[in-house]
Order: sequence, then structure tokens, then C-alpha cells
Amino acid sequence: MTFLLISHVVKYPLWKTSYLRNFHRHSMSNKVPKRYTVTAALIYANGPIHIGHLAGCYIPADIYVRYLRAREREVAFISGTDEHGVPITIRAKNEGMTPQQVVDKYYSQIDASFKELGISFDIYSRTSKPIHHETAQGIFTKLYDKNGFVEETTEQYYDEQAQQFLADRYIVGTCPVCSNPNAYGDQCEKCGSTLSPLELIDPRSTLSGSKPVLKSTKNWFLPLDKMQTELEQYIGSHPEWKTNVLGQCQSWLKDGLKPRAMTRDLDWGIKVPLPDTDNKVLYVWFEAPIGYISATRDWLIQQNGTDQGWEKWWKKDPELSEDGETKLVHFIGKDNIVFHCIIFPAMLMAEGSYILADNVPANEFMNLEGDKISTSRNWAVWLHEYLQDFPGQQDVLRYVLAANAPETKDSEFTWKDFQTRNNSELVGIYGNFINRAVVLTQKFCEGRVPVRGPLEPIDQQVLSELGSFPDKIADSMEHYRFREALTHIMDLARMGNKYLADTQPWHAIKTDPDRVNTILNIALQISATLAIVSEPVLPHTAAKLATQFGMTSLLWKDAGSPDLLGAGQNITTASLLFEKIEDQAIAAQIQKLHDAKRQNELEGKVVAPIKAEIQFEDFAKQDIRVVKILEASAVPKSKKLLKIVVDTGLETRTVLSGIAEHFKPEDIIGQQVLYLANLAPRKMMGMESQGMILMAEDRDGSLRFIQPSAPVWQGATVN
Ligand code: 2FM
Ligand code: ZN
Repeated sequence: MTFLLISHVVKYPLWKTSYLRNFHRHSMSNKVPKRYTVTAALIYANGPIHIGHLAGCYIPADIYVRYLRAREREVAFISGTDEHGVPITIRAKNEGMTPQQVVDKYYSQIDASFKELGISFDIYSRTSKPIHHETAQGIFTKLYDKNGFVEETTEQYYDEQAQQFLADRYIVGTCPVCSNPNAYGDQCEKCGSTLSPLELIDPRSTLSGSKPVLKSTKNWFLPLDKMQTELEQYIGSHPEWKTNVLGQCQSWLKDGLKPRAMTRDLDWGIKVPLPDTDNKVLYVWFEAPIGYISATRDWLIQQNGTDQGWEKWWKKDPELSEDGETKLVHFIGKDNIVFHCIIFPAMLMAEGSYILADNVPANEFMNLEGDKISTSRNWAVWLHEYLQDFPGQQDVLRYVLAANAPETKDSEFTWKDFQTRNNSELVGIYGNFINRAVVLTQKFCEGRVPVRGPLEPIDQQVLSELGSFPDKIADSMEHYRFREALTHIMDLARMGNKYLADTQPWHAIKTDPDRVNTILNIALQISATLAIVSEPVLPHTAAKLATQFGMTSLLWKDAGSPDLLGAGQNITTASLLFEKIEDQAIAAQIQKLHDAKRQNELEGKVVAPIKAEIQFEDFAKQDIRVVKILEASAVPKSKKLLKIVVDTGLETRTVLSGIAEHFKPEDIIGQQVLYLANLAPRKMMGMESQGMILMAEDRDGSLRFIQPSAPVWQGATVN
């Protein structure tokens, strides 16, 4: 380290003062770990990825990992799909598929869209793989052998119709905390409370809708109550964690931890590795986080044909982990906090040989156009659709989601903001600066990095500021403040724009070409540093810049240098980095959002249940007959009512009918329709309505007359 520092100081004396100071501060207070195991939540393979998932977990994780790699740290970036649990089987039932078909379908879709967005996982594994079953069962067995579980027979809800125990999301009821009538057996999505089925008020089965009964069954519980002190110490040793994360942990600890069942009476999942447990599987929240460990092994096997050495990413024993200096970081959304901060650490503590997370920088939720993102209501921007609608514009989405990530509180995505951030920030600031530096170099310097001449105060000032940026940005990255990092990155681009505006090379060229050489040399050095420091957020853009500038690597240690690009280096032209997004494209996205939601509502509409039984005499009381519409006109001051005169065969009658929003008066005159003739008259808008015209309501709420298949005489009765 010392050697490196000295060599930097000697090489770049001009800009290193602040770097030295900052570096010193870091190296004193925070020892750099040997390596990092970075995980991103194993999302359920029961639906596609949307922007909420990206902003909450995957974009921050990818930024962090790309930053670490640029710092030349050893990293394993681990993720995959969670393919067990009730969310999968419920989806399978809804889609009319087997659970295996569901997870196969969504694994491929999720994996492909993450790749295209540039999420740089080292491995994207699946919990259905044999390596995972083996790893999860192995840890369960080890805990069992150490007496780490409490075996208990308890009463659990059971659906007699479906002949199944109702774990987790198979049961819904009223939340005891916020009275939401549709809280799940494991969690209330409205208030975020973690629940158990027995806490629900008026529980009902999501399989049959029936009221469940209690039935006894044996399960294995993790005695979290006995681990309370140890867990308090663990959480207490991390005052640096985000307040939203610590808040949730402390509230759990304050309530007092309770034993939690680590097995379930279900058939889809990993078999419990004990005798006589045929219909039992491991609790999905027991095995899913173990998926991070199995995925690490899977990664090594895919690379080397053996998982030899996997322990160094996970174990605390210095012999196994080489030095015990691995830092584990879990990126997740806020609904996963308790599982990663309390339950998984408790499992690992009980097992005994694993490291625990050093940080769990969970984000809050991102909302969309004024409403909560919801898969079930189809209110979401889906990644695979974005990639289709905005080809080649992955970095725009990455940028917008990072700039607006719900780091400390819920945030909101709007298409208008997406457009503004693209047009004003990516095109107007970042793209504009680099484009000007490149175009002026083509124009005035034959497309080569010019030689820098004597420096004026403004040049010295800019180079010194340039030198201070990488540390500032690194400091934000190290502390998981990615929005702040991005602000610094954009400030660097702003600085570049201001430098060109102040020095005006397009004027200077007429009088002092050497001065222009200096200015453009400096502008290009700024651009090259921008490529390095923005790579974690804008990897596709940075890659284009690296090619354009002939940079063979984008390493953090080179950022901020005034000599990143050597004089004479070829600078090639390329298409614009970012394109303006027009109003039309934005309007189309907003329309698409509303259309999808509407379509979903229609699909979700169910045919009304049959009413209670009646006798023939009840039916016979109704006088339904065919009548002809003679006149129709709007009712003054009413949006809904039409005044209709009908011929009943016996007389003419006047009916007020609430169909004005569905029919124009002139279109219905002359039609034969069904009419309930003996309904007691009612007064509406100061007029009397006699009888009622019968209508059929279609799925989308539109109305249709019910008419005889061929004309009949006026007054024909309907029996
Ligand atoms: O919320 C979810 O989608 C869970 N499947 C996340 C699991 S993360 C980890 F534990 F695997
Ligand atoms: Zn609630």
C-alpha cells in the first residue's frame, strides 16, 4: 500500500493532495476486506422482473459489485431464483401449469432479462438444482444432529376439502394489526407485519375458500427465543446499518423472538431429510437463503468442474477461508429484512461455521405513477417489456432507477421523470459533455489526444477537482449511498461542461491553437475518468467510451489522473451515447400501463354467483314481456338517464332507464326489448318511471338489450 501511494504521489503531484488525505482516512478506519461475497435476493420464479425489484435490490447490488471489481477487489456476485414455496404452487394453479413448468418458464425469462440489462452476476442459479437440495438438507441435518431444532406437535389450519395443510399463502384472513381483510398467513402486504396463520382473524383457505379446521401435525422449530441475546449482540454490533433495516430488526427483537417452524406440510419443495416425513418439506425461508451458498458451489462447479474452495466465500474458520476475511453483503428489498437479518443469521449461528452478513443494505419500495407496484393488479413496468420497447437503452433505465432508488424512503417512478432524467441529465449533461470533447477533438486535433501545454489557473483548478472525484464517489459507494455517488458523477460531467463553456476552445482556435490542445487534452482526461467512475451505473455506455478512447481497462486506481489518456491516442467518433426520448414514446408507455391494468381487471372479473333458490310461484309473479321502443330522448340535467316510451301491446308506458352513457336515443327507436311490466312505479328527476327495460351487462361493463331472435308481436309474454 505504502509503495502504491508513493508511486502515485510522485507520478501525479498536482492532484494528489486531497486523494492522499482521503485515502489515509479510509485506510485508518476501514480495513479493506480480502474478498466479498455479495448476494442479491433469490426472487420467486413465479413472475417476471419489474422496476420495483430492480430499484430495490438488483441495480444497487450490481453498482456495488461493479465498483468493487473496478477497485480490483475479489468478489463473488451470487443470485438465482427461489423455486419453492407457496407463491410458486399458487401461480401454477392460476396459470394451469405444473409448478415445474412455472419455474422453468420464469427462470429463463428472468435470467435472460437480467443479462440484457447488464446485471453482472457471477452465477444465476436455481434452488431446484440438486446441489441446492443437497446443501440445504446438509445444513438441516447438521442442525438436527446438534439438537438445534425443537420438535413439536402443534395444531395447524387444514383444508378438509382440498385435504391439505394451509401454510403461509394458502391461507388468508384479516390482519390483526391493520384489519386488512386479505392478509396472508405469513405476511400482511398492507402494513408489512409478519404473521403466522393462527394470528389471522376469520381465516379462509385460498385453495377452496372454505373455513379451515385445526389439525395436529409435527414440525421442527428453530428456537429463536433461545437465541435472542446472541442475535441482539449481532444486530447491536452493526450500528452502521441503515436506519430502516435496524428499525425492523429492533422491533422484532423488542417483541421477543418466538420459535419458528422450519418445516412445512406441503409436497412442493425440498424433502425433510428425516424418517417418516413423506409429506413434509423444508420451510422455503429456511432453504432459500442457503441458496446463496449452493449457488456459490454451483458457480465453482460450472467454472472448475468442482466446488473445491467454496468455503473461502462463506466460512469463518481461517483455515477454510484462507484468512477469515470475507465480507458478506446481502442486497434485498424491505420485505425480506427479517429473514436476512434475524432468521438466516440465527440458522448460521446455530450451525456454527459460517460468517454472518456484514451489512444488509435493504431498500424501501418504489411506487409507480402514484400507486403501489402490484403484480396481481398488473401495475408495473416489466423489465422484459422495457427491453423490447427501448432497445439498446439499458443504461437509461439503470440510471433512472439508481438516481431515484428508494434508499431511505419509498420513492416513485413516473414516465415523465424518466423522460426528463434522460433528456436533461443523460443527453443534456453527460452525453453533451463527452460529445463536445470528442467532436472538438476531431475538428481541431485530427482525432488524437493533443499534447497538454502550460497550465493556466483554471486548468489547475479543474485538474485538482478531477483528482478529488474518485475518492468522493468511492466513499459514497462504500457506504451504499448510490444516489449520492451518482450525484457526484453527474457533478463531474457538469464540471466538464463548465470548463468547456469557460475556456471556449471554439473561439480560442482562431488565435491560440496550442491553448486549444491543452483544453481538449483536459476535457478528454475528464471524459476518461467519467467512463471509469460511471461504469458501475452505466456499464454499456462506459464500454462504448472505453472503445472510443482506446482504454483497455477501467480501473478505479487510474481514475482522476490527468494522464489517463496519453497524447497521440486515437479518439474515434461514435453514434450519440444517449438519444432524446420524445413525448410520444412516453405517452405510449403511460397508455400501455393503464391498458394492462384494465385488461387485468377484465380478466379478473368473475361471473356473479347464482342467487338463492326461489320457487316457480316467485318467478311467475314477474310480468316480463316484449315491447317496442317508440320514442327516446335525453333527460335534462341527467348524464345517465334516457326517457323512453314503449308500446306494451296494451298501452304506451314511459320508462326512465340508466343507459344514456351506453346508447344514443336515435339508435334505439324501433327496437324490440324485454320489459318488466309489473314493477312498482318510481319517481326519478321529478318524473315517474313505469316498469324496467332488462339489459345484459358484459364483462367490461357495457350494456346490451335482450331481444327475441325474430320479431314477435308487441306484448308477447316471456315465460
Ligand atoms: O421475496 C422473494 O421473492 C423471496 N423469494 C426472496 C428470497 S431471498 C433469499 F433468501 F433467498
Ligand atoms: Zn396489516
